[in-house]
Amino acid sequence: MDSALQITVILLTICSLHVSAYPSGKVEASCNTMVPGHGVAAQTSASPYTLDVSSTTYEDEQSITVTLRNTSLVPPFKGFMIQARAVGDGNNIALGTFTVSNSAAQTLQCSTANSAVSHTSAAEKTAIQVTWMGPNANTSAYEIRATVVQSRNIFWINVRSSNIKFTGSGGFRLLAPALSQLLLGASALILMLLIV
Ligand SMILES: *[C@@H]1O[C@H](CO)[C@@H](O)[C@H](O)[C@H]1NC(C)=O
Ligand SMILES: *[C@@H]1O[C@H](CO)[C@@H](O)[C@H](O)[C@H]1NC(C)=O
Repeated sequence: MDSALQITVILLTICSLHVSAYPSGKVEASCNTMVPGHGVAAQTSASPYTLDVSSTTYEDEQSITVTLRNTSLVPPFKGFMIQARAVGDGNNIALGTFTVSNSAAQTLQCSTANSAVSHTSAAEKTAIQVTWMGPNANTSAYEIRATVVQSRNIFWINVRSSNIKFTGSGGFRLLAPALSQLLLGASALILMLLIV
């Protein structure tokens, strides 16, 4: 691709992202804050939509089912964004990877590929289910967070799941035999050197 064409493609992409930001769910611009650019403040009441998780612990390569749904008789939601964050994280870094199995949801690239999920249209939804695979690290507890848009001027931010903890080995179990063999080899070598 020549550079003039590249620039045209980039400009067209930026324009289309800007124009269709809300209905298409291509809301990467909101990756950090998770606040929709609607120019109005979020609701301050408790969210009538909640995030349920199938488990509050996970081991290596184990995924968790995340469900965003209405908990009372309220209007369906039209838009949403879901991410996982470390509890108490002020750095706004999306963690882990999501997979979607429903055409109403798509994954987005926030900090890394597939680290967020959003709507694909403004069609009304009462529930959305996605799968999350968390980092293999004990460093902190994780939580799923959502922004839920009921209508252009009515939305909730910071809808949170229960805390989720990694309880796996982080691959240490796989590494351990290799490490002990290495130590065994090293001590055999030292022994040989001592003998001669
Ligand atoms: C959620 O909304 C749907 C559709 O409006 C309704 O049928 C359902 O009862 C609601 N769920 C709860 C828990 O109220
Ligand atoms: C994570 O914590 C569990 C105990 O909760 C421990 O058995 C495991 O070795 C730890 N994994 C890492 C990668 O630190």
